[in-house]
Amino acid sequence: MIAIAIDGPAGAGKSTIARSLAQKLGYLYVDTGALYRAIGLYCMENAVPLGDKAAVTAALPHIRVELRYVDGVQRVLLGERDVSEEIRRQEVSMAASSVSAMDTVRAFLLDMQREMALRHDVVMDGRDIGTVVLPDADVKIYLTATAEERTRRRMEEYAAKGIAADYQTLLREVNLRDEQDKNRQVAPLKKAEDAIELDSTELDAQGVLAAIERIVKEKIG
Ligand code: DC
Repeated sequence: MIAIAIDGPAGAGKSTIARSLAQKLGYLYVDTGALYRAIGLYCMENAVPLGDKAAVTAALPHIRVELRYVDGVQRVLLGERDVSEEIRRQEVSMAASSVSAMDTVRAFLLDMQREMALRHDVVMDGRDIGTVVLPDADVKIYLTATAEERTRRRMEEYAAKGIAADYQTLLREVNLRDEQDKNRQVAPLKKAEDAIELDSTELDAQGVLAAIERIVKEKIG
């Protein structure tokens, strides 16, 4: 099986690129952030305090989270419920970032991610795919962009959905999430030693995709 790992901070364009790349190659796109988001959503809905590791850990045995593919598109199930849309809410992003700092949560989700890569050729995106989840991935990309550019992209996404957003508020949230993700004790966001870093600040999605395709071709032919 072939695995392509794409890591990097929120808003660098990982999911757009990973999805297109997977489609082109005929691989499965695995969005691992969705798993952390599902745990965050469960905690929000069940009054599990997000900063309380003991409480979140105690909730884990009650959480059934599953990735399912419908016509090649990833859906996230929490129990029987499809939460693929709900987990995109901004509050859920922050909740996901909080619970993802807990080693118990990461351990809970680790095997599920590895199993996907055992059974399928995958393009997997996240924060620790190249460092922890799939250290032997065939290709590792670390995709970045400045916080300002990532905020601008988020503004555009919201505008497209008709959601009003304030640039300064979003920028603060982007910076806060970067801090949380980079400074946590377990599996912090960082470039794997053997990952290729790509800065997407000056590139559009097509430019990034073309650059990654070149890297993939070089590495796996
Ligand atoms: O990629 P995303 O924005 O959907 O991720 C939501 C949060 O989950 C993010 O703040 C960090 C965390 N996450 C993680 O810790 N490890 C991953 N492999 C993917 C996401």
